[in-house]
Amino acid sequence: MKLIVEKDYDGISKKAAGIVKQQIESNKSTILGLATGSTPVGMYKELIRMHKEEGLDFSNVISFNLDEYIGIDYEHPNSYHYFMKDNLFNHINIDMNNTFVPDGKAKDLDNYCKQYDKLIEKKGGIDLQILGIGENGHIAFNEPDEELNTGTSIINLTESTIKANSRFFDSPGEVPKKAITMGIGSIMKAKKIILMASGKKKAKVIKKLLEGKKITTQLPASMLLLHPDVTVIVDEEAYKG
Ligand code: GLP
Repeated sequence: MKLIVEKDYDGISKKAAGIVKQQIESNKSTILGLATGSTPVGMYKELIRMHKEEGLDFSNVISFNLDEYIGIDYEHPNSYHYFMKDNLFNHINIDMNNTFVPDGKAKDLDNYCKQYDKLIEKKGGIDLQILGIGENGHIAFNEPDEELNTGTSIINLTESTIKANSRFFDSPGEVPKKAITMGIGSIMKAKKIILMASGKKKAKVIKKLLEGKKITTQLPASMLLLHPDVTVIVDEEAYKG
C-alpha cells in the first residue's frame, strides 16, 4: 500500500485528479470505478477543470459506480445517480451510455447484481477504482460484519452509516436502510485503486488501516492490504488527527 500525505483537501483532490488524468491519457478507453460521498467532490471539480481548460477527453471513458441507495428516485438529489450527474457527468464529455450506476430499482435485484459484475468483466474490468472510506471502515457500502460479500449485493446499512449519511438528508429517518453495492471481490479485481480520505473524522480508521497488520471483515477496507496496487491519499488531518 502506497501512502501519499497532502496538506489539505485541495491537495488530495488535485493529487487524485492528476492520477486519473494520467490514466486516461495513457488509455483513452479507460474504465474508471467511481465513488460518491463528499470526499471525491473536489477531485471531480478538478477533473471538470482539466476537461474545460486542458482538454481532458472523456469521450471514450467508461465508468462504473460503486453503489446506490435502494428506495429513492434517481431524480432525488441524494440518489447517487443524481450525484454523479451533478458533480461530474453533466460537466464533461463522457457518453452517458458509457456510465453505469447500480440500479437500486431493478425488478430482480439479485439477478441484477450478478449482471452488474458480469458487465464490468465484459467491458474489460476496472482500470482505476476510486474509493472513499466510511468512519467505520466501510468501502462502497460494504459494512463491517462477520462476513463480506464478494460480488455486487444488496446490503443493510449500519446505524452508524445511516447517521453519518443523514447530514445529506432532512432527517435520519429519510436515509434509505438498504443499498446495492459492488462487493469486496468486485473492488479487488480493479487493476489499480486509489483510496482517499480527508479530515479528522477519518483519522482513527486511517490509522488502523495503515497499521496494516491484520485483515478483518470488521474493517472492510483492510481487505485492500491484499491488493497489489493501492494508493492511499490522505490530508494531514486524516493522517494525524
Ligand atoms: C458513503 C459511500 C462510500 C463513501 C463513504 C464516505 O456511505 N457509500 O462510497 O466512501 O460513505 O463518505 P464521505 O466521503 O462523505 O465521508
